[in-house]
Amino acid sequence: MKGIILAGGSGTRLYPLTKSVSKQMLPVYDKPMIYYPLSALMLAGIREILIISTPRDLDRFEELLGNGHRLGLDIHYQVQDEPNGLAEAFLIGEEFIGDSPVALILGDNIFYGSNFGNLLADASNLTTGALVFGCYVKNPKAYGVIEVDDDLNPISIEEKPLHPKSTLAIPGLYFFDHQVVEIAKTVKPSERGEKEITSIINEYLHRGELKFELLGRGLAWFDTGTHESLLEASQFVETIQKRQGLYIACIEEIAFRRGYITKDQLLEVAEPLMKTDYGKYLVDVTKSRNEKIRDKGAFMSDSI
Ligand code: G1P
Repeated sequence: MKGIILAGGSGTRLYPLTKSVSKQMLPVYDKPMIYYPLSALMLAGIREILIISTPRDLDRFEELLGNGHRLGLDIHYQVQDEPNGLAEAFLIGEEFIGDSPVALILGDNIFYGSNFGNLLADASNLTTGALVFGCYVKNPKAYGVIEVDDDLNPISIEEKPLHPKSTLAIPGLYFFDHQVVEIAKTVKPSERGEKEITSIINEYLHRGELKFELLGRGLAWFDTGTHESLLEASQFVETIQKRQGLYIACIEEIAFRRGYITKDQLLEVAEPLMKTDYGKYLVDVTKSRNEKIRDKGAFMSDSI
């Protein structure tokens, strides 16, 4: 499976913070926001990744992550000229996707929870149809909303409905088979002028090929669309990291624990960061690999 991170948009709701900097480059506690969705793809075992961003911001992402080789990844970059909607990611990424199934994650979505990595690993086995998730939220009107029956089979999907049929929002993490490119080509812009991801999901629903999974109480999902939610996400990460001493979305750690890079490569990556706790943590990670209990906690539990 391949992966796409969509890190576009104008971020106007976060002005003036985002007037000259991409929203997905803003800090969430101690790392750039894009580390979080990137870590989710890595936990899903996805190593071939396309980052899509604006003409203004794409170079900055490339400067941050390069070709991904130092993390054992293969990262590509492509521009989205205008914020025409999420569905456009599959048109921009058509060549990158080829015949492969693909996961799309939005650059401003942050997930954390027990068992999340295992759930992602299962999801990445998808070869036919599509898989979306549902999270309980207080204000479903702000999201794509999914209605399901008692057996959790999807019934309807609506983008930012005025009268939501459920309180289950669809978070910005989706798994599709290769049909997604052809389907994306048929999507017409919505009233807000965007090619909506929910139109694609709806098509899979009509074809009877949509799978759904509920992300229950144990899963924290943040979208960082407002100043409040951005701050809350930072505070959440700080709280967990300080308490557990285990980092969230530490992409270098994940690369090492997944065996994408060696101990020496990790130490090399840590070297320029040694003035920070982050760098020291990476060195600790190399030492902890053989400590079974800690390894189990940090690796098996999956929410790094
Ligand atoms: C987008 C999607 C929406 C989804 C949300 C998740 O909304 O259109 O379906 O629930 O991301 O973050 P937007 O970020 O464009 O408001």
